[in-house]
Amino acid sequence: MKVVFLACSYPPEMQQYTRGLAEVGATVYGVGDQPAAALPQSLKQYLTDYLQVPRLLDEDDVVARVSAWLRGREVDKVLANWEVMVLTAARLREKLGLPGMSYDTVRGFRDKQLMKERVRAAKLRTPHSERVFTVSDARKAAEKLGYPLVLKPISGAGSADTYRVADPKQLEDVLGKMGHVKEASCEEFITGEEYTFDTVCIGGKPAYMNVAQYLPPPLIARSEEWVSPVIITVRDMEQPKLQAGITLGKGVLSALGMGDGFTHMEWFRKPDGEAVFGEIGCRPGGACLVDQMNYTGDIDLFREWARAVVWGKFEAPTARKYNAAIIFKRALGRGRITRIEGLGEFLRAYGQHVVEEKLLRPGTHRRDWKQTLLSDGHIMLRHPDWQKTYDMAFDAATHIKLYAE
Ligand SMILES: Nc1ncnc2c1ncn2[C@@H]1O[C@H](COP(=O)(O)OP(=O)(O)OP(=O)(O)O)[C@@H](O)[C@H]1O
Ligand SMILES: [Mg+2]
Repeated sequence: MKVVFLACSYPPEMQQYTRGLAEVGATVYGVGDQPAAALPQSLKQYLTDYLQVPRLLDEDDVVARVSAWLRGREVDKVLANWEVMVLTAARLREKLGLPGMSYDTVRGFRDKQLMKERVRAAKLRTPHSERVFTVSDARKAAEKLGYPLVLKPISGAGSADTYRVADPKQLEDVLGKMGHVKEASCEEFITGEEYTFDTVCIGGKPAYMNVAQYLPPPLIARSEEWVSPVIITVRDMEQPKLQAGITLGKGVLSALGMGDGFTHMEWFRKPDGEAVFGEIGCRPGGACLVDQMNYTGDIDLFREWARAVVWGKFEAPTARKYNAAIIFKRALGRGRITRIEGLGEFLRAYGQHVVEEKLLRPGTHRRDWKQTLLSDGHIMLRHPDWQKTYDMAFDAATHIKLYAE
């Protein structure tokens, strides 16, 4: 089985998928924007060939270059696990006449408005929303939808330019900040808990499922620097309060015509128990979510994803052993990390449950918390009991402190 894998080296976890593909026996042709000589040996060993392209995000250019490169060779699949490459992969599949999700199907996972229209057409609950292009469109939509509402870019990521708007006055303030956004979605604001619904699908059916809770909701975590965002995978997916969300998630997969591979959906659970669709991508969640899922069941989803997309099989156990929590830390102050407080004490108390400790060390420059959820590093821990996991995560969020100057 010969597979073209777009963006095989960056973001860094893509190297794990490349490994997975090779481990299940695929011949991997990698495409990326790094020079071949700069690829780490740990990755090169899994690649049969590699094409460097100058601009990975230039769809036309990548399609032209990859097609030319493949001339005279037979390939079976074109795959991508990075959000910004999934449409390019679909275009290449169509151009080369290969099986897999079509460009139009993948568009349903990339265009937030189209996504909601398709999900809504299947009679699944989405926030009421309108696509807006101008300030006057936004005012009209706001009048129709009422307050509070959310204004966000159609193709946003990382909660960038996403605002909760409480009243008409705030709408004017927010519109003033969104001048550079060409196309936005104006939506009913859903109050509730926020969860993920993640899958590895074979022919649109989940061979693997995961639910994780965001604490607090991403919009708050991404707009308040003092927050240490926490995400916890839920060990017990049978519990009644998650069933509406899981049913919604499966419905969304059929509504959008999912094929093979990862999906990452976000949904809201309202106080009355209703599940409301947020958004979905046909790719894995970022910010270590796949590692977290791996720690939840002691499995290797990098490889199992590959087995699913290459051979149509999923062989890892799906039993869930732990709730796995990740706690992202943000240092107080600007510049370089100077010291970490409370880590030793935390590890003495809970070290046996900690599976990763990747806080930035003193001397390292702070990351831009607005740009990356990874912030200034993380701790990952796990425990079979939800409340214990939650308490340890909040202890780390509260008592471990990084400082910078
Ligand atoms: N209709 C809504 N009601 C309430 N909160 C919302 C709504 N839409 C978005 N949000 C909040 O804003 C966050 C970001 O929105 P969304 O997930 O649509 O965009 P994104 O920027 O693609 O997110 P990501 O951080 O996953 O890349 C959501 O996680 C949620 O907290
Ligand atoms: Mg989101």
